[in-house]
Amino acid sequence: MGDGTKVAVVTGANGGIGLTLAERLLTIHKDLHLCLACRNRQRAQTARDVLLLSHPKAQISIITLDTSNVQSVLSAVKDIKKQFPRIDYLYLNAGKMSVKSLDFSNLLKSILKMNTLFLFNTGHGLLVHTDEHTSEGLMSTFATNAFGHFVLVKELEDILGGNQPSQVIWTSSVAGVRSAFDPRDLQAKNGKDPYGSTKCVIDTTSMALNEKVNSKNIYSHTTCPGLVLTNMTDGILASWIWWLILPFMYIFRLVLDHLSIDTYKGSESLVWLSQQNPESLKTGVRYHSTTDIWGNTTVQPVQINFSLEESLKVYEEMNSLYKGFKEKYKS
Ligand SMILES: NC(=O)c1ccc[n+]([C@@H]2O[C@H](COP(=O)([O-])OP(=O)(O)OC[C@H]3O[C@@H](n4cnc5c(N)ncnc54)[C@H](OP(=O)(O)O)[C@@H]3O)[C@@H](O)[C@H]2O)c1
Repeated sequence: MGDGTKVAVVTGANGGIGLTLAERLLTIHKDLHLCLACRNRQRAQTARDVLLLSHPKAQISIITLDTSNVQSVLSAVKDIKKQFPRIDYLYLNAGKMSVKSLDFSNLLKSILKMNTLFLFNTGHGLLVHTDEHTSEGLMSTFATNAFGHFVLVKELEDILGGNQPSQVIWTSSVAGVRSAFDPRDLQAKNGKDPYGSTKCVIDTTSMALNEKVNSKNIYSHTTCPGLVLTNMTDGILASWIWWLILPFMYIFRLVLDHLSIDTYKGSESLVWLSQQNPESLKTGVRYHSTTDIWGNTTVQPVQINFSLEESLKVYEEMNSLYKGFKEKYKS
């Protein structure tokens, strides 16, 4: 690795928004070592091959990492540290959403109450979610989207920041609305919207993280890619239904600015953040990829609806859970 080489680690980089992000990072940052942190080595290898087609000279490594499993994260950290003395961009993008069906009764109620726009804007209340326990006893959506990433940041803290800034960039979502989150139920064991809840955990954890680590030259920000047609949305409706409603989605851009639809537009805010001076960025906001009716995409900061005090409480709870696992796996 040359002296000027920067290192970007991207979780969930083998498909969807993560893969497009990886491709765009290689295009923008000329001297970059990209590390694809994925749970399935075969899928990661295929992604690497695809990236090498457009960037034949790129330095691309693969790390096996299942964010839903703390042991896997701890083992991935060892592999990352063997390869990289520092990380410049740590993209926490892997995510899951388990959906049983659309919530037609709530949709009908919202039509009667005339707040359908909120439903379509955030997805909150539009879907019936499911969740399960991991082998380590955590709720799976929480572990995958939020906690595994938190462990990753904590464990990599000593190779982030220092003389040069490092950026931690989380893929959050507009689905992270306050009503999806109960601070007494961090893992959403009893919640109706575990996905939205984990995105609130991400937003608050990131905000609090800045208080803890900005002095070490580490900066944390969250993004929302908007609605993007990927494997994740195929879990909500079959892809042929999405293609059927696609023309309407383009028209709905008149009133909804989060209809990114494709991964290129969706990844805009994630890519944009890597081009900014992190010290100049706001911390109480989520950076959204927004697209207008003409298909022009811009990045807009949107206020996170949690106070710093609330965020610090979430952070402390995440930290004590992390310490519990560290103790459990210390040998
Ligand atoms: N699509 C949208 O409309 C939308 C909107 C807002 C936010 N987001 C967020 O964007 C991010 C990327 O989602 P996407 O839309 O690109 O979905 P996607 O195509 O399903 O990609 C999700 C990625 O996360 C990986 N992943 C899932 N569980 C994992 C685990 N336990 N460990 C490691 N990797 C895991 C997947 O790997 P496998 O291939 O092995 O499953 C895949 O690479 C997610 O955080 C999602 O919440 C998406």
